[in-house]
Amino acid sequence: MSSTNEIAKEIAKTSDEERVVIIAETQTLGKGRIRRRWISPRGGIWLSIILRPRILSRDASKLTFIMSSTVANSIKRIFGLNAEVKWPNDVLVRSRKICGILTEISTRTGIVQFVIIGLGINANIDLLTFPRTLRKKVTSLKQELGYSVNLRRFTESLLCSFENNYKRFHRGEWHTLLSEWKALATFFGRQVKVTSLGETVVGEALDVGTDGALKIKLKDGTLREIVAGDLTLI
Ligand code: BTN
Repeated sequence: MSSTNEIAKEIAKTSDEERVVIIAETQTLGKGRIRRRWISPRGGIWLSIILRPRILSRDASKLTFIMSSTVANSIKRIFGLNAEVKWPNDVLVRSRKICGILTEISTRTGIVQFVIIGLGINANIDLLTFPRTLRKKVTSLKQELGYSVNLRRFTESLLCSFENNYKRFHRGEWHTLLSEWKALATFFGRQVKVTSLGETVVGEALDVGTDGALKIKLKDGTLREIVAGDLTLI
């Protein structure tokens, strides 16, 4: 398959179904954030979900937070690994990326028509599969556990947990869901470098606001809020 996000978009444009899940064994054109390529060999979990929440476009990123905390909590609960989240939408184990999320939306007059949540989890993947430059930055479930996991069982459990959290979101539990995400984050109080729209900002990560923006205190004491970007710990 080329990219589950691309296939999901095609399906979403031609039908009004929702909660459709597209799963690939491999992807030839896997996409990451900021137009990066996403390496998707056999053994990973590469999937996209079509959702049709009745929300404004500015609230769609909340679903990414909900998905990343669902993944981190599932990895903790099922495999006992110490998973954490990194703003805005990565899941890490031992500070290495194990999961990335690419959320894409289609809107009409500020209202969401559909949301595609693309989820890539390095599950049963040998690190040697990745280019040398990435090997110190990424990990997989197999690498951390020393054995291959049951992909089907893990995916089913993950999707059930996401469905529960998605329902909680619709019941107005966003603040609790965000607190759960924050409880999985270890970068608060740390010096970070954030690149956003070509600009790089360095400072202390203070908090994530209710809109999902990262609050940073710069060296000169001024406060900045960053809506989207790439965060690195210094
Ligand atoms: C990132 O961290 O940059 C996001 C990576 C998202 C990758 C997943 S794999 C399944 C879905 N299909 C894609 O083409 N991308 C997402």
